[in-house]
Amino acid sequence: MSAGSVASPYAVTEPNDETACFSVAEIATDELVGEALLWGIDTHSRAAHVGISLRPSFRGRGFGTDVVRVLCRYGFTIRGLHRLQLDTLADNAAMRAVAVRVGFRAEGVLREAAWVDGRFVDSMVFGLLVTEWNPHVPNPSEDQRSGDAPVARTSL
Ligand SMILES: CC(C)(COP(=O)(O)OP(=O)(O)OC[C@H]1O[C@@H](n2cnc3c(N)ncnc32)[C@H](O)[C@@H]1OP(=O)(O)O)[C@@H](O)C(=O)NCCC(=O)NCCS
Repeated sequence: MSAGSVASPYAVTEPNDETACFSVAEIATDELVGEALLWGIDTHSRAAHVGISLRPSFRGRGFGTDVVRVLCRYGFTIRGLHRLQLDTLADNAAMRAVAVRVGFRAEGVLREAAWVDGRFVDSMVFGLLVTEWNPHVPNPSEDQRSGDAPVARTSL
């Protein structure tokens, strides 16, 4: 299957009322880092869910934090949303850390809500309201942790 083929299950589609998919690329190399999206966009309640998946070699390097911040900016300022929700398995420490770092609040545990590797595991719900969101939170360039330039380019 050739790159850019419309038949590819990984082809990024145009944003629509319910979903906005993004490709994430490393600025320094232009290499594909992963994908991110807003899904389940509810234009009546102005709410949506955040989804992200990075290639294994790009995990743990600050991309996740960078990308979720960009999704928040897109959701709140471009799509005019009021609430973003992030759902993750309770044992996904990296995803939980990203959510808290970006400003999401833990809102609840769904006990044994997911069947994973032959057992039921808890999942967690995080939420962030536009009224809580801090658009001036430092970019990775100003972030105390990294001190580097923004690491990812997140594009439709
Ligand atoms: C979850 C995911 C998006 C996180 O992105 P990331 O780029 O790896 O995370 P970051 O490098 O921005 O790290 C953010 C925080 O998580 C911590 N972290 C990263 N990997 C971790 C791990 N394996 N265990 C514990 N903490 C971890 C970092 O130390 C950092 O914490 P800090 O803010 O206190 O310094 C990414 O790892 C991923 O795509 N995983 C596979 C798919 C997935 O789980 N998607 C989410 C489904 S809901």
